[in-house]
Amino acid sequence: MTIFANVATAHIMQPMMDKLFIEKEQGMLETIPLLMLGIYFIKAAGRYIQSIFTSYIGQHIVTQFRSAVLSKMLFLDMSFISSARSGELISRIVNDIARIQYFVSLMLPEFIRELFTVIALIGYVLYLNAELAFYSLIILPIVILPIAALSRKLRKISYGSQEKNADLLSRLSEMFNNIELIKSSATEEFELKKFAKENWELFKINMKAVYFNELSSPILEIVGAVSLAVVIFLGAQDVYANKMSVGEFMAFLTAIGLVFQPARGLGIIYTKMQDALAASSRVFDILDKENEIVDGEEILDKIECIEYKDVVLDYGDKRALNGVSFAVQKPYRLALVGDSGGGKSSVINLLLRLYDTSAGTIFINKKDIKSYTIASLREHIAVVSQRVYIFNDSLAYNVAFSDTFDEDRVIAALKKANAYDFVKEMPEGIYTVMQEFGSNLSGGQRQRIALARSLYKDASVLVLDEATSALDNESEAEILAIIEEEAKDKIVIAIAHRLQSVASFDELLLMREGKIIARGKHSELLEDSKEYKLLYAKSKKES
Ligand SMILES: Nc1ncnc2c1ncn2[C@@H]1O[C@H](COP(=O)(O)OP(=O)(O)OP(=O)(O)O)[C@@H](O)[C@H]1O
Ligand SMILES: [Mg+2]
Repeated sequence: MTIFANVATAHIMQPMMDKLFIEKEQGMLETIPLLMLGIYFIKAAGRYIQSIFTSYIGQHIVTQFRSAVLSKMLFLDMSFISSARSGELISRIVNDIARIQYFVSLMLPEFIRELFTVIALIGYVLYLNAELAFYSLIILPIVILPIAALSRKLRKISYGSQEKNADLLSRLSEMFNNIELIKSSATEEFELKKFAKENWELFKINMKAVYFNELSSPILEIVGAVSLAVVIFLGAQDVYANKMSVGEFMAFLTAIGLVFQPARGLGIIYTKMQDALAASSRVFDILDKENEIVDGEEILDKIECIEYKDVVLDYGDKRALNGVSFAVQKPYRLALVGDSGGGKSSVINLLLRLYDTSAGTIFINKKDIKSYTIASLREHIAVVSQRVYIFNDSLAYNVAFSDTFDEDRVIAALKKANAYDFVKEMPEGIYTVMQEFGSNLSGGQRQRIALARSLYKDASVLVLDEATSALDNESEAEILAIIEEEAKDKIVIAIAHRLQSVASFDELLLMREGKIIARGKHSELLEDSKEYKLLYAKSKKES
């Protein structure tokens, strides 16, 4: 519609000039203005409908795209996610996709509209006067070269700007995640300075993009002016020679003028497009990533026994586990003890298939762990990890978390974890909303919520990684008694620095530098292992 209206605007020039002004036809006096009004009405309506339509499509695509990128990201290997900065990942979903959105919903329709307008108008000028059209348009292809060079430059700058943007977001998310540390060590000014430096670097990159971006407009403007000059010079001679009427000439001149408006638009959009192209290459980097951990096919029903056979785990260059073997059958309580960095948490990471073994095999119910679906595997393992994760949601939801919600079960789990007493006192009981990271709870309270979460899950394997480290001796003893009770039909794997808390376990594995250097019951180890004796003496002194 708009394209038609554009061509019609030029076409109406001929009768206007020839009939209205030169031949002074009275009838045309009403017709031409009315026609003009009609054309512009069609143009306005067309533009509106088209904008709504294209924006709808654009927004729709981008919304789907955002979800697709997130779902890809969430399922990526832990090794990738933990090495990426969270701000960088957020930036790809929010900033980069916003740049693509800007292009898809605003620029792309504009681009298509301008392209067709240019084609239609060029067709029209060729129809009017092919020779004159040739001379006036010959300059068009010549401008393609500088515009292409400009675009390449801009794409590089855009890429840099997007990376800087991601840096900035990473810096921010890091800052707010560590706000307690920053405030307690009074380094606000220092953080501010670091941020300001990056912030102004982003400013510089963005301004650089502007210098190049805005160059496309004047270049195209000048090209347009040259063309118009050529048309007037050559066209006027045709009019003198009576090859063309004044009206035809005016129509031609208007059409050429009209060609250059969208042609300029095309050039400008093309340069702006580079930003979206750079952004999409960053987003497709993620979409094209292949996971190394491959899902199995079999659904795991219940975990009866676990066996590690000569297991090795490397995190990149770092060897965390080096030939670990052990086997447990339910009911069983296994403790992993030893110095920090010995590889205890790594044993758990493998059990959850957050990582795959670099060598050796893990068997669940006598079958390779890789043969089960990851979802069904994780469903049967409840973990209280070293770091406690609390979502900004009600306490009840935080406890039920991955399972279906049941109020009675939530309360029962809280009671078991020795948490119900303080939860009852909260303003809205179990429906009190937790702050992000559980910052409205004490460390011990947070740990008890995490414990309640794992008890709620009622999985066949319960993993406790320093789950009672933030509790006083008395509360710890109470919780250990509950775990004892739970362990009757479960496999419990506990990691503990305080050795007293696991003294009654069926077996203890003493780990150092990725190896099991001693194993047995507490009493046996006290007799046989020098290292264990030392560790025990140390842990007794600490508590
Ligand atoms: N994601 C990771 N990437 C690289 N190296 C890692 C990663 N996680 C752990 N490591 C390294 O692997 C080794 C074993 O780590 P692990 O977390 O298993 O120790 P741990 O026995 O649980 O220690 P702690 O008692 O302090 O929790 C450490 O030297 C650690 O630096
Ligand atoms: Mg650990």
